[in-house]
This record gives sequence, C-alpha cells and structure tokens, in this order.
Amino acid sequence: MSATAKPDIPFARPLIGQAEKDAVAAVLSGHILTHGPVCAEFERRFAALIGTRHAVTTSSCTTALHLSLWALGVDEGDEVVVPAMTHVATAHVVEHCRATPIFVDSDATTGNISVERLATAITPRTKAIMAMHYVGLPCEMDAIHAAAAAAGGTGATIAVIEDCATAIGASYDGKTPGAIGSTGCFSFYPAKHITAMEGGMLTTNDDDIAWRVRKQRAFGYDRNLNERATPGVYDIVALGHNFRMSEAQAAVGLAQLDRLDGFLSRRRANSDALRRHLQEIDEVLALPQDHGKSRSGLYCLNIVPPRTAQWDRNRLVHGLAERGIGASVHYPVPIPLTTYYRDKYPPGAGAFPVAQWFADNVISLPIGPHLDEGDMARIADGLKAAIRDTKS
Ligand SMILES: Cc1ncc(COP(=O)(O)O)c(C=O)c1O
Repeated sequence: MSATAKPDIPFARPLIGQAEKDAVAAVLSGHILTHGPVCAEFERRFAALIGTRHAVTTSSCTTALHLSLWALGVDEGDEVVVPAMTHVATAHVVEHCRATPIFVDSDATTGNISVERLATAITPRTKAIMAMHYVGLPCEMDAIHAAAAAAGGTGATIAVIEDCATAIGASYDGKTPGAIGSTGCFSFYPAKHITAMEGGMLTTNDDDIAWRVRKQRAFGYDRNLNERATPGVYDIVALGHNFRMSEAQAAVGLAQLDRLDGFLSRRRANSDALRRHLQEIDEVLALPQDHGKSRSGLYCLNIVPPRTAQWDRNRLVHGLAERGIGASVHYPVPIPLTTYYRDKYPPGAGAFPVAQWFADNVISLPIGPHLDEGDMARIADGLKAAIRDTKS
C-alpha cells in the first residue's frame, strides 16, 4: 500500500484489545485450561444476555446444533426441516444424526425460510425445524411454531432449533433469539458479532436438555471433573463427544461480551449510514433490517438487484475487491444444490428457485464495528463504480 492509499475495508475483523490479551494471559498463568470457572462464568453471563435458564459452552455453533438434535432424540428415519439458504452446518448436523434434511425454499423478501412452503415439508416423521435467522434477521417464529404445533395433531412433537450464528443483538416481537425455540445455537467464529477465536454456545430453558447436553459434550461422563467423589472415577452413560470450549476461549468471549453494546451501536450506525447511501443507487435493493416482528442483529448488509433483474454478482464482488472493499456472499449455493446433497437427495428440476436467485445475486456488505461511517461512504462509492464497470 502506498503512503497515500486508503486502507482496505475487510468484510470482518475481530477486535482484540488489551482486555482480551490480559484475560488469556490470566488463564495461562493458572492451571485450569479447559472446562473450568471461566467457561462457567461465560455461560452465566451469556444466559443472562439471552434470558434463558441455561447456556452451555461448546466448541462451535455446529457442535451446539449437533448437540441440540441429539438431545431432542433425532435419529435414523427422522426428518428435520432445513432452510435451503443457510450455512452448510445447519444441514450437516442432520446428516451426522443419520436423519434426513427436508429442504425448504426461501422467502423472497427476507431470505429466511419461507413459512408458506414450510407446512408442506412437515410429515409424520418430522422431529425438528431448523430456524436459521438469515444474516441476523429473525425468521417468522410465530408461524414456525404454529406449523410445528399444527403437526401436533398427528401425535408428533416437533421441536424448533434456532440457528443464531449471526443473530446476536436481534429481536423478535420483543423476544431474544436463542430464547424462543427449544434451543438456540450461537457462533464465536472470528467474523461473528463477538468472538472466542472459535467456539459456540447452546441456550435453552429446558433443564433436561441442558443436563443432557452437558454430559454429551464431554464424552458422556456421568460426572464432570468437579462432580466426582473420587478423583478420576466416573462412568459413561452416553456415546458422547468432546465438544468443549477451552478456558482461554471463554476468557476472550467474556472480554468481548463487555464490549458487545458498543459493537452493536457501531453496527447500527454503520448500517443506517450505508442504507442512506444505497438509496442513491437505482440498481441496488437492500434486504430489510426490520420486517414484521423481526429486528435484525445486523450481521452484514445484504444487497440484491431489483427482483426482475440480474447482475453479474461475481464481477461486482471482484470490482469491490479491486477498490479494497471486502464483500462476501451468504450463501453461494443453496445447500440442496451443493454436490454432496444433490448427489444424495437429487432435487427436481428448478427446485429452490428463490434460494437459487439469492445464491446467484446476493452480495453481503460489511457493517462491523471495525468500520465507521466514512467507510460506509467508501463502500457505496466503490459499489457505484463497480456497477458502472459491469456496464462498460
Ligand atoms: C447460519 C450459520 N450456522 C452455523 C454456522 C457455523 O458456525 P461455527 O463456525 O461456529 O460452527 C455458520 C457459520 O458461519 C452460520 O453462518
């Protein structure tokens, strides 16, 4: 970069300060490096944030989703409803439980699971619905719960699992995502609202789920380290995993929690500024940040061309990159049309048209707290120039 060049605008950048470094150093100076008091404190503080009785640290959001399905007894022969437009983690965990994902197309306005199509996906074998809040905008939880309850007439009990990987700071009808379904699953991957380097959290109000998940994330021990009457002596009560978080990760997560309010205000100011700038660009439609009862957690700002149009999305993303602007794509292929899922569950021709349209056209613009309103003006200018280039 020359002395006069402007710095790049990355799509995401974790903000790690002295507090995070000191917290990790304090853990490393002690003798408990995993599943100890710092994890317990992170769980306590996170449960208070979301408003659930329990929060359980995990190694990732993926493992929190996996533990949720396991705790709900999802197994071979069961079906789980999954949005076509999501991160693959939401579907892979269903496969890992040997159940069958039943994919549902997207809502054309929000990109969330289409609640109209959801009803037709439910069968007597449905065990759960994965409610993934697309780039932070909560899905229509009332309609999803109504669809689950309607199926109750057949004697089935259908649980709703919230995939909140990008939904910290969001709300639905005044409620907090993660406290609405049977479980909520959060991600602390570095690009997310707060990070623990890697890591996840499972929230729930159900005492039994919390108890079972705590056992399952640690090998299926009947007693964790601090519960053993005789040190080193335990029994195994389930085919468990090692899905735990380390103390150093929890220390980073706790320090980040202290900064969350500031991070969220900056996201909102950035989002508002970028939306104002985007209104000046005819070729661009911003997906809603509020819709019905849903208020977005503002993970990023997704744009598409007007509904009847198409644009050369990949060329635009390259055009932004040439101007130092890091855009992303959420998500590049509808999950049922990825090679693995297409081969295993061949879809009909033209299946998932709305998800496909998003996958072909959507661009995710950065609004994270590593950026300010000046950066938002640069993003809009860069986008205008990139669109101009695609016309030449
Ligand atoms: C919607 C969604 N669910 C799950 C995940 C997986 O999260 P993790 O990397 O913490 O496992 C992601 C990752 O970006 C995601 O976007």
